[in-house]
Amino acid sequence: MGLKRKILELHKKREEVLKGGGDKAIEKQAAMGKLTARERIISLLDPDSFHEYDLFVEHEARDFDMEKKVLHGDGVIIGTGTIYGAPVCIFAQDFTVAGGSLGMMHARKITKIMDHSLKLKVPLIGINDSGGARIQEGVNSLAGYGEIFFRNTLSSGVIPQISVVLGPCAGGAVYSPALTDFVFVVDKISKMFITGPEVIKTVIGEEISMEGLGGAKVQSEISGNAHFYAKSEAECFEQIKKLVSFIPWNNIKKAKAYEPKEPKSEYKVSEIVPGDPRQPYDVRDVIRGVVDDSDFFEIQELWAANIVIGFGRMNGETIGFVANQPLVLAGVLDVDSSDKAARFIRFCDSFNIPIITFVDVPGYLPGVDQEHMGVIRHGAKVLYAYSEATVAKITVILRKAYGGGYIAMSSRHLRADFVFAWPTAEIAVMGPEGAANIIFRKEIVQAEDPEKMRKQKVKEYKEKFANPYVAAARGYVDSVIEPEETRRLILHAIDVSGSKSVFLPQKKHGIPPF
Ligand code: HXC
Repeated sequence: MGLKRKILELHKKREEVLKGGGDKAIEKQAAMGKLTARERIISLLDPDSFHEYDLFVEHEARDFDMEKKVLHGDGVIIGTGTIYGAPVCIFAQDFTVAGGSLGMMHARKITKIMDHSLKLKVPLIGINDSGGARIQEGVNSLAGYGEIFFRNTLSSGVIPQISVVLGPCAGGAVYSPALTDFVFVVDKISKMFITGPEVIKTVIGEEISMEGLGGAKVQSEISGNAHFYAKSEAECFEQIKKLVSFIPWNNIKKAKAYEPKEPKSEYKVSEIVPGDPRQPYDVRDVIRGVVDDSDFFEIQELWAANIVIGFGRMNGETIGFVANQPLVLAGVLDVDSSDKAARFIRFCDSFNIPIITFVDVPGYLPGVDQEHMGVIRHGAKVLYAYSEATVAKITVILRKAYGGGYIAMSSRHLRADFVFAWPTAEIAVMGPEGAANIIFRKEIVQAEDPEKMRKQKVKEYKEKFANPYVAAARGYVDSVIEPEETRRLILHAIDVSGSKSVFLPQKKHGIPPF
């Protein structure tokens, strides 16, 4: 056969595979508002940048009449490409081929691209749309998932791993995302669960819809499994691109720097925080008041909103922000907000992203529920994550910094490099009311007018401790600053921290309170 005919034959073979699961399955996919796996990759990556590998891989299953079935590409597409010029490795499961279920060869394709991403030190993006382990392939599909989970863990902290859930994903198809750094979901399209509604009905007799069990809203607002929620696949891909623009390719490189920009004039930090410590405000406006172009990219916006995490740029460089949110539960630390902050701190630390912490925290949330849910263990994650982090850590105390919350929120004692406090800062073991009630209980009870005495003692306590100067006198706070100075001082602190290096005791690894 001459070259021309061989090339024609190649074209024909390619065409055949590109049909995926066939017209009917593709129509069904479109009717659900879903793009096909290939369309998804093309929409996400830079134009003409995608290069596909293992197009002609076929499954090797022989049981349950599987030898009669042709599964194009074995239901998954793998390749490399770029996003805003940054290289990425990518896979997308093709639900039109056997429900994107994971058989042995399907898993081998995914692990091949995972190995590539770790070797090439570039981010991995996984688009998951799969019914989980391919039932007909038995232990081979379980082995496949095991190989994927192992690689997810090996790559953790070396390359960023991004998961996109764009379909009903069950079993292994959700555990791999859970091991990655960021999970994206789309309204009505994404469903994540370990066991589906049918199994639940059989085993415990409960009836629940897929949406109610693990839809996009559930996973973004209630469980916290998802980090980004979008209304459509197009919006989701824009979010992924934006995330990729903020993060580095790997744990050695720094994130790409952009042209520095001043914050927008409408965000004046001096006008955001009310003087009255009981008045709420949106701490995201303080972040917008200091970041370039006031562009703050929030993560897990819908879950544990009493803490805010996300990326912004200062002087063009990526910065991670952690801030208590007085708008929600007065910004207390609790089980979920501790988990949320701790994981983000570890991501920033792994990928050389400086962390700025804005503090306005009344402490850890008291109550039976929280204690029984393990607030001790979960709250300890924040202490651990900040203590362990060796990137530049800059803390600004805006208002309340009470008790364990003060220590946990990147205090000097956990080795913050720079601690600034606004004149409105109150650093104490607890709020003045609670403190006065405890330490002056006898005087208050025995007074002729207990209420008058109580007020007087609260006032005394406030005057003594509800300020930043006691901490500044001990050097726990480096400078008491005017709000307008915040951006300038943070920029300076980042500049002088450029070569920061810290020597930690040698160990295999620590044991965080997981
Ligand atoms: C083989 C599968 C499959 C699977 C779906 N299909 N899941 N084939 N193994 N796990 C096939 C279907 O037979 C069907 O094939 C096609 O994919 C489309 O599936 P439908 O059921 O028609 O689609 P839909 O109604 O949208 O429902 C999707 C679904 C459902 C919710 C995902 O298919 C489902 O519940 N599947 C099983 C989920 C599951 O329990 N997986 C195992 C998880 S255990 P045809 O030929 O008819 O088009 C696991 C182990 C790892 O993953 C655990 C690690 C910790």
